[in-house]
Amino acid sequence: MIDLRHGDALEQLRTLPDCSVDLVLTDPPYNIGKDKTWDRIDNYIEWCGAWLTECCRVLRSSGTLIFWHNDMPQLAELMHWIAEHTLLVFNSFCNWHKPNFRKFSWENSGWALTLRSWFNVFEFFVVYIKPDEANERQWKKTGLDCVLSNPACFRPLKEWYRSELNRLGLTEDNLIAKYREVTGKKGFMFRHYFKDSQFEIPTEEIYNSVFKPMGFRREYEDLRREYEDLRREYEDLRREYEDLRPRFNLERGSTYCNYFDAPAIGSSERERFHACQKPLPILEKLIRTHSNPGELVLDPFAGSASTGVACIHTGRQFIGIERDSDNYQTARNWLETESAQLRLA
Ligand SMILES: C[S@@+](CC[C@H](N)C(=O)[O-])C[C@H]1O[C@@H](n2cnc3c(N)ncnc32)[C@H](O)[C@@H]1O
Repeated sequence: MIDLRHGDALEQLRTLPDCSVDLVLTDPPYNIGKDKTWDRIDNYIEWCGAWLTECCRVLRSSGTLIFWHNDMPQLAELMHWIAEHTLLVFNSFCNWHKPNFRKFSWENSGWALTLRSWFNVFEFFVVYIKPDEANERQWKKTGLDCVLSNPACFRPLKEWYRSELNRLGLTEDNLIAKYREVTGKKGFMFRHYFKDSQFEIPTEEIYNSVFKPMGFRREYEDLRREYEDLRREYEDLRREYEDLRPRFNLERGSTYCNYFDAPAIGSSERERFHACQKPLPILEKLIRTHSNPGELVLDPFAGSASTGVACIHTGRQFIGIERDSDNYQTARNWLETESAQLRLA
């Protein structure tokens, strides 16, 4: 689905259901004075608060919200507003470097005389995550880590360990003392061996030099096999946990730092449809990293619909909103051309 709507962002956002969008990737306007809705920084932040609240509502749990911005004082206020008024968790502050803009900088004496500041060859975007309430504290853990911390998992091995201690009349302190004698270490790992908290089994070396001499009967290989069998049993649960995490899909050979190099689209280029057009290579990488194929991406300030074109190229669904009639028509044409090309390919 590629759905470009002609209208006001706030009005259109209100028609979308809760938690229906996987990724919000947008580029709001920010030139104070250009829009009658906001003519000062305070009513600009108020307006942004309204569309951000709607974006947050329509975003699914663990979804990602990214917005471009290039006015530092406004962005600082906006980030402060988000921290105060939403549940969104700050994730990254990213830079788009435009190498082809350098030629406009100090080397050009016209700029040097008039600008009296460093010429900006960057644009910025910020990445936020909507935390999953049920999984708020866990979302940084991998699916396997969540399984290992789930008290219901690995019960047979936990119970076997307890029953061996009882059978042998041992306490854990006895085992720790042996562990210290053998390894010279403090035994912190006993907080995890066969425990609910980040369950682990000892290594073969530790099992054979600490547990076996204290009377534990099983062979290590047998223990290891039961561990692997149980781990396979929890594979669906691991995947469920993994799905609760924010998307961050990695591609071999790609770098994942917060610096993106891409030339700005020059005014004479063939595919230049908007003065603030963002480069497709960056948009596509963001979409691939922060969503899965087939998922839904929303851009309430679509401009040329570059985000929508990036969705077509990466196989995602798209809802875009654009208020300006000329921009809307240009965007529609571009989306149609790209969709047609995809059908021909
Ligand atoms: C910074 S531009 C987006 C450019 C876009 N990222 C691109 O690559 O082409 C912001 C866009 O939001 C549109 N816009 C401004 N206010 C709007 C509103 N209230 N509702 C919908 N669109 C709006 C403007 O017409 C403009 O095209």
